[in-house]
Amino acid sequence: MIPPKKIPKAGRIEQYAMNNSRAVLLLLLVSGKALIDATVINVTEPTEWWQTATLYQIWPSSFKDSDGDGIGDLNGITSKLNHLVDMGVEVLWLSPIYPSPMVDSGYDISNFVDIYPTFGTLQDFDYLVATAKKLGLKVILDYVPNHTSDEHEWFIKSKAGIEPYTDYFVWNKGIVVNGTRKPPNNWLCAFNSGSAWEWVEEREAYYLHQFSVHQVDLNFLNPRVIQETKDIMTFWFDRGVDGFRIDSMPYPVEDPSLPDEPLSGLPGYSETDYYYLDHIYTKDRIENYHILQTWREHVDNYTATVNDGATRIIFTEAYANISSVMKYYNFGSNVPFNFFFIKDKNGIESATVNTAIDVVDIINTWMENMPDGATANWVFGNHDNSRVATKYGSDRIDGINFLLYLLPGVAVTYNGDEIGMTDTYLTWEETQDPQACSTDETRYQPYSRDPERTPYQWDNTTSAGFSTNSITKLPVNQNYLTLNLATEKEVDVSHYKNVQAAIKLRSNEVIRHGTLDAQVIGESVVAFARELDGHEPVVVLINWDNITSTCSLEVFENIPDNMKVLISDINSGITVGDRYTKTRIELPAYAAVVLQGITDE
Ligand code: GLC
Ligand code: MG
Repeated sequence: MIPPKKIPKAGRIEQYAMNNSRAVLLLLLVSGKALIDATVINVTEPTEWWQTATLYQIWPSSFKDSDGDGIGDLNGITSKLNHLVDMGVEVLWLSPIYPSPMVDSGYDISNFVDIYPTFGTLQDFDYLVATAKKLGLKVILDYVPNHTSDEHEWFIKSKAGIEPYTDYFVWNKGIVVNGTRKPPNNWLCAFNSGSAWEWVEEREAYYLHQFSVHQVDLNFLNPRVIQETKDIMTFWFDRGVDGFRIDSMPYPVEDPSLPDEPLSGLPGYSETDYYYLDHIYTKDRIENYHILQTWREHVDNYTATVNDGATRIIFTEAYANISSVMKYYNFGSNVPFNFFFIKDKNGIESATVNTAIDVVDIINTWMENMPDGATANWVFGNHDNSRVATKYGSDRIDGINFLLYLLPGVAVTYNGDEIGMTDTYLTWEETQDPQACSTDETRYQPYSRDPERTPYQWDNTTSAGFSTNSITKLPVNQNYLTLNLATEKEVDVSHYKNVQAAIKLRSNEVIRHGTLDAQVIGESVVAFARELDGHEPVVVLINWDNITSTCSLEVFENIPDNMKVLISDINSGITVGDRYTKTRIELPAYAAVVLQGITDE
């Protein structure tokens, strides 16, 4: 590979500016000196606990099995809460734990106010929450408002025409074309299995399902449905939860006149694939934001009524374009997940993160598009996407974690990413995810979400310490013998120890609310400086490429001449405590370091 040319100072700014509309504007308007300052972004001083929290997502069926049935459970999770404390996280988010036929791993809920028996009971849940509280951890539940399982009592009654459930779902008689009955329009379901409509003989109508055929879309134009959603939230607040991650936020309301959706024109999608169409009538509708606002009011009313001074929080899940995502802030989401390190600017294809410029552009685009006073957040992995170590490559794990934990705002992480777990290969026969099962043996792999959902690797004993059972719901990744938490705690340097160190640094005022200046420096280095008056600045450098890169920190204002290494990635050969002068820092391929200024020694 030919190393990229060194970019002179002005050129570097132009190169950056090409990726950044605000900088382009400033390039035209102001002098060269001000241009450098144009990249400095102010960070609002946090006033509430959640604004600097680390959120840890637990996949219940694969975290810890307490009873040897090969499936994770609530008591298993409770027994491992000390791991979260040891790591330094403040909030845990439980992916769905409710009764479910488990067609979509619990995102098909048959009762919103109980626990899936294989996971435990409401008493086990209460014990989990009580234990978490004792340990200083907050608990967030995954709430799935858009749909219920087709086994939910509401749907069974709705099919039978029993009031008040008749209009709880989106029913339609369809149309007759040349004597054949057809769905009312061309809408497709998100799991790539064709029509979003399914005929029910009993009701003599089609129901809408934007996800699998077993996940029935609720009718959000029915006020009773909205009341049910509030009652569900109240039920869990009464049991002590601190908030919700709201699933599938772009989907509750569709255009009631049911128009056909236009073709997307995107290459590579066949007629039954979701992205064959452009979802202008079924996704990102303004009405969804108004529903979110109703939930925000409900949540805040709850807090006002119990008057305990706590803040109850709402995280929202939406894969969409940046303006649709940012709008959730305005309508009451504390944290609309920032998926732009995972998906492209439309929230459709995989994000392109090939170069240091791509990385810096994603950071600055998010920061500049946020409404005033909003809290940033960073997400690199979850249960729907390839693991960080697989997507970004094992050489970049520590660098990604420095971004995740040392950029301003909320850090969102998925269980196992702290030790660098990788995707697990599963055969077609082993595949369980409906999004993959609706394809075929020749093309299931890119659709399958099972690879990132396999059991947590605690140690090198049976089933990686996840279960005493050698047969588990999803298979354990065979790399567990060397890749596991116990090993990473034993050795001197590990991804886990670096995560702990980075999380610890989050209590430093500079990381809490210092300014952010993210730029590309040297040949290929993602660099960001966090600065705050009266504090030593912190600078993070990540060499994004596989060649050595030499850089200088002179682009950043007020950086002292000398810096010391606070944290370094496990392969860099750079040692904590090493010193650098700011004018010349040589970083080996993929090396990542966290530096702190030294002025007082
Ligand atoms: C969300 C969940 C995903 C689920 C879908 C349908 O995107 O994260 O796992 O399949 O909603 O509920
Ligand atoms: Mg179990």
